[in-house]
Amino acid sequence: MNQNASEAILLAIESSCDETSAAVLRGDVVLSNVIATQAVHQQYGGVVPELASRAHQSNIVPVVHEALTKAGVSIRDLTAIGVTQGPGLMGSLHVGVSFAKSLSLALQVPLIGVNHMQAHIMAHFIRQSEAFEIPKLPLLCLTVSGGHTQLVLVDEHLQMKIIGSTIDDAAGEAFDKAAKVLGLPYPGGPQVDALAESGDPTRFVFAKPKRNGLNYSFSGLKTSLLYFLRDEIKKDAGFIEKERIHVCASYRKAIVDYLLIVMRDAIHQYPVQSLALAGGVSANKELRRRFLALGEEMAIPSFIPDFEYCTDNAAMIGIAAWYQWQKKEWADLSMTPQPALKW
Ligand code: KG4
Ligand code: ZN
Repeated sequence: MNQNASEAILLAIESSCDETSAAVLRGDVVLSNVIATQAVHQQYGGVVPELASRAHQSNIVPVVHEALTKAGVSIRDLTAIGVTQGPGLMGSLHVGVSFAKSLSLALQVPLIGVNHMQAHIMAHFIRQSEAFEIPKLPLLCLTVSGGHTQLVLVDEHLQMKIIGSTIDDAAGEAFDKAAKVLGLPYPGGPQVDALAESGDPTRFVFAKPKRNGLNYSFSGLKTSLLYFLRDEIKKDAGFIEKERIHVCASYRKAIVDYLLIVMRDAIHQYPVQSLALAGGVSANKELRRRFLALGEEMAIPSFIPDFEYCTDNAAMIGIAAWYQWQKKEWADLSMTPQPALKW
């Protein structure tokens, strides 16, 4: 770390999907992390891109203002500005990127374009307290969000290799789609998780997904749930009402079993110093418990970010930007949002 890095003050902006967020960091310490969730999508059962970008437009100035105020930082103190460049929704990314560009131009400070999926993993390197020990490298991270399911090997900060990923739906989508057919409101993942806590995970058995190296596929599992419900409802129209919590528990177990069985294979193939979970689905209670148990069984230190850093947030963009800033990985003002950004 160069001498000034721990004193650098970064403003970070996240607007890739339906959360408008701004954070201020001093070095790798988060001073503020403000997240405005857009309730407007609830009535449509999913994110409506056009409404998301409009909501970002009205949220962005007050959210940035609140993040600076909470951090006790003036806009003139900023060393650099980090912003999500992709992946995400074009109209949503545009709002954050345009705002960050304008601010960087006005303040004459560097602009840093951040990959949202890398940032979910970088959230593990936020220093949460003086005594906090950041994970040792190499690290194996299971990133599970609404759009991605990936096993990522991190050799160096920002040096990441995807060693497995889903060939169809993401784990978050598998939860959200189940919630929809079970008549639960959007976003469904947390609802399925909450109901599953009081259900019996062994009551129903769903088709085990076919193994495909370190890759995932969730479409078979989802179809298995759909056919199962269709058949049961034919026999008893009140089936979902009566058995909802047990269906949630059994389906959640099937997803978590599958996520961790493939992760276990990856651990055998790649000796690592730490294990990590990232992305919105890492808020899932069963996944958290079983992931920590796996780490204990394999005697590898395991890390899950604090809840506020699991789902979309700007603090994770800030920590990624801080590492990029030190390497002078700066963007110029011709930078554009990249909805399908890869690394
Ligand atoms: O990372 P994230 O906040 O946004 C994306 O970049 O996609 O992940 C959102 C996903 C949604 O599918 C949501 O239903 C799921 O994470 N999720 C959960 C839980 N909390 C959020 N899925 C299962 N159990 C949860 N507790
Ligand atoms: Zn995300």
